[in-house]
Amino acid sequence: MAGNVYSIRQLHEIREVFGSIRPRLEQVEGFLAREMDEALPMVGKVAGYVLGSGGKRIRPSLVLLISRILGYTGERDIRYGAVVELIHTATLIHDDIIDQSDLRRGKPTANRKWGNQATVLVGDWLYTRTMDLCLELGDVEVMRVLTSATLQMTEGEILADRVRGQLDVDEDVYMDITRRKTAELFAAACSIPALFQPSTLHLTDTLAGFGRNLGLCFQLIDDVLDYTSSRGELGKPVMADLREGRVTLPMILLLPGLGPAQRQQIAEVVRTGVFESISEEEVLQMVATSGVLDEVRARAAEFARRADELGGQLPGGRERQSLLRAAALLLDRRS
Ligand code: IPE
Ligand code: IPE
Ligand code: MG
Ligand code: MG
Repeated sequence: MAGNVYSIRQLHEIREVFGSIRPRLEQVEGFLAREMDEALPMVGKVAGYVLGSGGKRIRPSLVLLISRILGYTGERDIRYGAVVELIHTATLIHDDIIDQSDLRRGKPTANRKWGNQATVLVGDWLYTRTMDLCLELGDVEVMRVLTSATLQMTEGEILADRVRGQLDVDEDVYMDITRRKTAELFAAACSIPALFQPSTLHLTDTLAGFGRNLGLCFQLIDDVLDYTSSRGELGKPVMADLREGRVTLPMILLLPGLGPAQRQQIAEVVRTGVFESISEEEVLQMVATSGVLDEVRARAAEFARRADELGGQLPGGRERQSLLRAAALLLDRRS
């Protein structure tokens, strides 16, 4: 995590929420380290660099915490915690190539260090290796969930690329892209633990719904942070979405209230990727004073509420409380 981005109270809560899974998260780290050691040296170097650069490990934490809530005592949560992080890593590597981004987790991106050719192939390797890791245990059902999530993530990026550079992006199209590129992996991470034991199979859809809503909340906040945060706090470039030609929900909601001249200026930024006829500060000022950020936060809160409702159907106890608390923290996050 980059910088000191949570208050002391929040840090205390995070420690409490994730304290119970900390030793298992270390086992996930061990699994990932072994994968990197055994891979082709170039893969180990590039993917190991990204994995070692300090991601929040939200997706494996969800696998581990939900496995505990469901009373699972085997070892598959470690493997699949690692697998969802490997898929996430592959997505970030490819996303940074597509966005020509130079900073991730406070460090130069893999594409900046090793170039697009080498890094795109490392992303491919990671995706394929995750399928291998399912097949090693003959876990076809888990593989089905992960294949579907990965396909949808790729489709999300394809759809996002089609509307890149366009000013008028339909809100439904934005939500569809958001669900695919982010929420479906959250849904997979949350529902896979239900597949570990026959007695919890009936919770698969509830958990997928929980994860999907959490993921939608998460991406909406990511899109807010792109406007409100700083490079140091986020560990990745800010105001990057507009510069990358991505019109996200804050801008979608802002546009109808703008005059033709302002629309024209924003259209130019989105099309060219350069702030020329209008400065970054002016755009920020417009966004900040319009109330759209509160509207996006309110919508994110509504997804968090739906997740909370579904999470309430899980077996009760301290761990479930931790899970629901973690969901609320994602809404409040600043990185
Ligand atoms: C970043 O995800 C990509 C999005 C879905 C917005 P995270 O914010 O979970 O990234 P890391 O793993 O903590 O760096
Ligand atoms: C999320 O979208 C990336 C994926 C889930 C592939 P973003 O483009 O907003 O992610 P960041 O902001 O680069 O982390
Ligand atoms: Mg990006
Ligand atoms: Mg983003």
